[in-house]
Amino acid sequence: MLDQLNAEFAIDDAIHFEKHSSGLIQGKIATEVCQGSFFLLGGHVAEYGLKDKRPILFLSDEANYEIGKAIRGGVPICFPWFGPHKTDDSQPAHGLVRTEEWNVQSTSFDGQSVSIALGFQLGQLNLNYKIEFGPALSMALEVANSGPATTYELALHTYFSVSDVTQVQIGGLESVDFLDQLTGETQMASGQPIQFTEETDRIYHGAVKSLELVDPGWQRTILVEPINSQSTVVWNPWVAKAKRMPDFGDQEYPHMCCIETANISPNQVALDSGASHTTSVVIREQT
Ligand code: BG6
Repeated sequence: MLDQLNAEFAIDDAIHFEKHSSGLIQGKIATEVCQGSFFLLGGHVAEYGLKDKRPILFLSDEANYEIGKAIRGGVPICFPWFGPHKTDDSQPAHGLVRTEEWNVQSTSFDGQSVSIALGFQLGQLNLNYKIEFGPALSMALEVANSGPATTYELALHTYFSVSDVTQVQIGGLESVDFLDQLTGETQMASGQPIQFTEETDRIYHGAVKSLELVDPGWQRTILVEPINSQSTVVWNPWVAKAKRMPDFGDQEYPHMCCIETANISPNQVALDSGASHTTSVVIREQT
């Protein structure tokens, strides 16, 4: 399979496929502009950063790399539901596609950005995922419906690497109300940038054009630009939950935060028969 993938999709000085130490197949990107990687498992972007700069994505040292399990860090795809299943608690959290192998449909390189298209078929829903590794990281998940009208939730569950989560600020959600998942209560917009002082698990409901992750410790700002997204999840597990998560180090929570581009109930996507919808995000380091 590896030989076939490389024969069909490798591009010199841009992308090749190799076996990760776990045995999973990984696509590796290295260009004059950036480096990154993704796994066929989950269609999962694992790493991204500008050349000779710090990584932008967080990837846990304790992550599982096994079919049937999700990788902790990078960008898991939550689909077709977010969080626990609403009616059937025997179903896995965050849906069905982050733990299965996707297939490669195409790769290309324009001298600056490497583009990869991955695919996954889930019943009547055909998922087409376009990832672009370049001066920015862009991820666009198109869902096409070949069956009767339906709805779905999704999240591009992005883990960002930060110097110290207690020092960072997230701007852009100041005027958006949110569901506090820890209390189940809806909170009014705070008017303030987000700062982390405890376990944080919020779903902001409302479209935003641009978010800023300001990290004074590393003197960098990451811009997050969601497209066709009506929900943003902001998450950090903090001390106790970090200890409860077997695939996450007890001391890792200060080094990450999640900003997830999403469409979550009551902003789930409704798709008529034959219709399609694309949710995207572009992530870039401000220079
Ligand atoms: C976040 C949720 O998106 O994902 C949290 O808001 C959840 O509630 C977290 O704990 C991690 O989920 P999982 O299934 O990857 O452990």
